[in-house]
Amino acid sequence: MAFTDKVTAKDFPKMDKEYQDLLVRVLTIQADCEIGGPNIYVPQGWTGPRAPTPEDLWKMGKTATEEVDHFRKFNRLLNDLGRDASWVIWRPRNERYVEAFRADMPTWADVAVFGFLMDRVGRYQLEEFIDCSYLPVSEILPDILKEEEGHVNYGTMKLIELCRTPEGREEAQAALNRWYPLALDSFGQSESRRSERYIYWGLKRRTNAQQRQEFMAEVEPLIRKMGLQVPDPLAGRKYL
Ligand SMILES: [Fe+2]
Ligand SMILES: [Fe+2]
Repeated sequence: MAFTDKVTAKDFPKMDKEYQDLLVRVLTIQADCEIGGPNIYVPQGWTGPRAPTPEDLWKMGKTATEEVDHFRKFNRLLNDLGRDASWVIWRPRNERYVEAFRADMPTWADVAVFGFLMDRVGRYQLEEFIDCSYLPVSEILPDILKEEEGHVNYGTMKLIELCRTPEGREEAQAALNRWYPLALDSFGQSESRRSERYIYWGLKRRTNAQQRQEFMAEVEPLIRKMGLQVPDPLAGRKYL
């Protein structure tokens, strides 16, 4: 029988040690992932030749601000448990939990693909918390999810725009080939005991493999519609 109670910060000290550890772990990873995107594209110079228009520059700044706010919201939940993840803001990029956040974005197409794929991975991660056992997460979730969807839509729109010219499409395909394996790997190992324990404790809804399958079923038709080729889902993968 899975755990079906709802838990608040006040209940936390009474909870099973496994629940405590998994909750702190998942909140810390989420905080790390929220800061992971801006950590790549802000220092790499979104004010340079990267953003093609003032509107794109504004949108990137707004997106970065929203991600920092998502970080703050998750970190506040950790603070309520007597923990703090502020240190992840300044951790070196090559130490990010999810490997995709260690990568570079050499072109504008990478920024678009990042929104299209990685903010969508972010949406999937967040959707795991819908109706989860820890109530304070459910409370912050709707606003964060709405903004995350905005990031996905923006990236998708920018990618569609790029694909209108042959040069743009070539750049987009190259970026897609770089990010597709990273995005699929972000869901983790398909066989994961920890992922089963998260589900048992009501902290996640789907296994890693289920999430990855649903993600692929969602993006593949979109990729084809843009006139791009779906990269081999097994090529360059580290976590199967
Ligand atoms: Fe976010
Ligand atoms: Fe995002």
